[in-house]
Amino acid sequence: MSNTIAGFSKLGKEQKIEWLTSHYFADPNAAATILKQYWNDDAALQKLHDEFIENTVSNFYLPLGVAPGFVINGKEYVLPMAVEESSVVAAAARSAKFWAKRGGFKATVISTEKIGQVHFLYKGDAAKLQAFFDAIKSAFFTSTEDLTKNMQKRGGGILDIELRDKTTLLPNYYQLHATFETVDSMGANFINSCLEQFANTLKAQALGYDAFTECEQHIEVIMSILSNYVPNCVVRAEVSCPVSDLNDDKNIKPEDFAQKFVTAVQVAQVEPFRAVTHNKGIMNGIDAVVVATGNDFRAVEAGVHAYAAKDGQYRSLSHAKIEDGIFTFWLDVPLALGTVGGLTTLHPLVKLCLEMLGNPSAKELMQFVAVAGLAQNFAAVRSLTTTGIQQGHMKMHLMNILNQLGANDLEKHAAVKHFETATVSHSGVADFIEELRKNDPTKIEEDFLR
Ligand code: MEV
Repeated sequence: MSNTIAGFSKLGKEQKIEWLTSHYFADPNAAATILKQYWNDDAALQKLHDEFIENTVSNFYLPLGVAPGFVINGKEYVLPMAVEESSVVAAAARSAKFWAKRGGFKATVISTEKIGQVHFLYKGDAAKLQAFFDAIKSAFFTSTEDLTKNMQKRGGGILDIELRDKTTLLPNYYQLHATFETVDSMGANFINSCLEQFANTLKAQALGYDAFTECEQHIEVIMSILSNYVPNCVVRAEVSCPVSDLNDDKNIKPEDFAQKFVTAVQVAQVEPFRAVTHNKGIMNGIDAVVVATGNDFRAVEAGVHAYAAKDGQYRSLSHAKIEDGIFTFWLDVPLALGTVGGLTTLHPLVKLCLEMLGNPSAKELMQFVAVAGLAQNFAAVRSLTTTGIQQGHMKMHLMNILNQLGANDLEKHAAVKHFETATVSHSGVADFIEELRKNDPTKIEEDFLR
């Protein structure tokens, strides 16, 4: 068989696997077995997953964990988190417990506006284009009435459309810059459909506009697409307490901890190398809840990092201060999320995760996600400024190392016990297991049963 294939997408799943494994794997049977091991026994459920994308050959699992005990705006929640990094869920749960005793998290949606643009070229007089836009602006709204009817019933729709002259950046480049309210949907399909209609209206109206020369009548639309940069769709998550209440760690005075914590956040404000890692820690929490609730984590990532660089330098998304003896730590983050449409009604686990959160509105989900980010950031900066990150990380990573070494349950039990007081490292765990395997297995078993 050749390595190039026409009509691959038309092959059945078994045939796709056969082609793939016979071309790319030393042991095609073993590769096919692994791919099929991850299929779901429930044929209907498997078909649902197969049809999410093109050319599905298997499923790729992420663990779904839960972080209980989150007090958010006075109510208790369990946050669902889909993530592979071993320490993330434990850190979230630890932060939840810490802040539940200190008033919990507060979260507020600051704004919910989404943005989309039609990018086009116009070779003519800018003032004439502006007059044309003003004359036909209402046509953008009337020509999209079919698309906006349902959204308007739900309280959303097109907020405004502006003409923007971008010719100082690129010759002849202009935009229709439109803003939208999409209520509980992320709104990508709604926004893109409206934009494509705006583009058609723009071109058609220009052709019939008498004041334009023939050249001006031929507007060239380059593309119509929503923006994943949503600086006016922002949520704030916050915690605060008297500095004296930051008293969990006997090894550091509350005032010293608070000051060190604030300085660490200031470092991430001024130093991009630190800011990127600091914000990565925030995204550990944000992405995990975004994925579990069936939202588009690539859109969220792209928008969040653009926001972190909005003043021209990449900075921390979170802030911390001590004022009048009160420690406050907060995060402002742009999040375009949906709780209707997309995967939210299709994926059974997503439906369950949303139900776990009380079937939230998009605004409520924005609050939960921002809180997950702040909680994660608190846990990371707290560890970094006290014990160091490796102690907790390696403890959580211990199970991965044990699995890599093929440890059985008894060996795992013995290792977990041993490394409660010893430093975890790959070689340390390997040495421990090697030593253990030299011993009498019944001794380990007795210890396990004790
Ligand atoms: C690791 O996934 C995330 C951290 O590096 C975040 C941070 O440094 O703040 C621990």
